[in-house]
Amino acid sequence: MITALRGMKDILPPQNQKFEYFLKHTSKIVKKYGFEFIETPLLEETALFKRSVGESSDIVGKEMYQFLDKGGNDVCLRPEGTAGVVRAFVEKKLDRIGGINRFFYYGPMFRYERPQKGRFRQFHQFGVESFGIQSHFEDANIILMTKEILDFFGINYTLKLNSLGCPTCMTPYRKTLIDFLDSVHNTLCEDCHRRKETNPIRVFDCKNEHCQTALKPAPRLNQHLCQSCDTHFSALRDILDDQKIAYELDPNLVRGLDYYNQTAFEFISGDLGAQNAVAGGGRYDKLVSFLNGKETPAIGFAIGIERLMEMIEVPQTSREGYYFGALCPQAIDTVFKVATKQRQSDKVTLSYEKKSLKAHLKAADRSNARYCAVIGEDELANQTIWIKDLEEKTEYTAPLD
Ligand code: HAM
Repeated sequence: MITALRGMKDILPPQNQKFEYFLKHTSKIVKKYGFEFIETPLLEETALFKRSVGESSDIVGKEMYQFLDKGGNDVCLRPEGTAGVVRAFVEKKLDRIGGINRFFYYGPMFRYERPQKGRFRQFHQFGVESFGIQSHFEDANIILMTKEILDFFGINYTLKLNSLGCPTCMTPYRKTLIDFLDSVHNTLCEDCHRRKETNPIRVFDCKNEHCQTALKPAPRLNQHLCQSCDTHFSALRDILDDQKIAYELDPNLVRGLDYYNQTAFEFISGDLGAQNAVAGGGRYDKLVSFLNGKETPAIGFAIGIERLMEMIEVPQTSREGYYFGALCPQAIDTVFKVATKQRQSDKVTLSYEKKSLKAHLKAADRSNARYCAVIGEDELANQTIWIKDLEEKTEYTAPLD
C-alpha cells in the first residue's frame, strides 16, 4: 500500500471542518484590517530563499526540498511564504508605485524537519505581509490583529517580544557578541561555533543546555539598540501597554529567519507540546531592496494552521437544507427531479437508493439536514411528498408541486 510521506498529512473530515472554519473567520478578520488575498507559486528559485531566509538559517541550511527540475533549474518547494510575496511585490513593480500594500495568503509550506507532534514536513500557514509603513503603529496593528485572531478561536497564549535592531546597532553589537563567544568558546557546541561565523545572534536559539548556561551572561542586543530602534521599540510597547496587551520581553527571541530587523514577536501556547509557537513574525525593512526592489519598510507574521487546529473546536452548526430519499424504486426518478429543483435555493443531500423510512431518517440526521423528505408508493400515487422537520420534530405531507 502506498501511504502519505513521513511528516505529511491528509486533511479529511472532521478536520476539514476545522480548516474551513479557521480560514473563513481568519480571512474575515484580516480583511477588516485592509488585507487582500494574494497567491504565489509553491515552487520558486532556490536563490530566492537563500537570499531572503538566509544561508545561515536551519531552514536553508538543512530543511529545503530542493532539486533540479527537468530544465536544470535549481528550484525548491517554499519553506515559508514571505519571500515569495516579496518577490511578487518587486516583480510586479509595486515598490515603484509606492503607497501601502497589505496582503494575506494561506497554503502549504515544506520543511524537511524531523517530524514530531506539531511539526510536519508539509504544513500550512496563514500569513500576512504589510508593505510601505515604517511606523511602530503598524507593528502594533499587526500584533493586535494576530491577537484578535487567536482570541476569536479561544486560544491561550503568551506574546513574546524582542527588538532585533538595525544595521547601525547590529554591526557594533555583533563584534561585542563575537568577543564574548570567543571567551566561552570551549563550552559551546559545534553548531554554535558555526553560528558564530555565519550569524552570531543565532546562538540564542540553541537548545543545548551547556550553551544556554554559558550564554546567560552574554551581551544582549536590547541593551545595545541605537537611538532610533530604541525609540521605535518603546513606542510600540507603550501602545501595547495602553491597549492592555500583556507581553514578555524575550532577548532570546531571534527568530529562525535572517530577514528580520527591529520588532520580532511570537505567540506561544502552553496547550501545545514542545512545538509551542502558534504564530511568529516581525519587521523586515531591508528585504525588498535586498531582492532588488526599491527600499520599502515591511512587517508580517504567519500562523501555523495545524498547530492552531489542535486547539480549536468548531461550534456545532444548526441543521441546514434538505435530505431527499425514495421508499420504492419507482420513486427515485421523481425524487431526483424534486431534489434538483430544490437545490436551486437550498443545500440538498440526495440518496439514489431505495431505503426504509428509518434508514432515510438516520441518513438525513447524519447529513445534518433540517428536513428529511421522502416519496413512496402512496406519495407517488397522490403526487405528494412526506416531510419531517428534524429540528421541530414535526411531520407533514405536501403537494409535490
Ligand atoms: P515561522 O516562525 O518560521 O515564520 O513560521 C510561522 C509559524 O508556522 C510557526 O509559528 C509555526 O506555528 C508554524 N510552523 C513552522 N514550522 C512548522 C512545521 N514544521 N510544522 C508545523 N508548523 C510549523 C515564518 O515562516 C515567517 N514567514 C513569518 C513571517 C511572515 N514573518 C514576516 N512575515
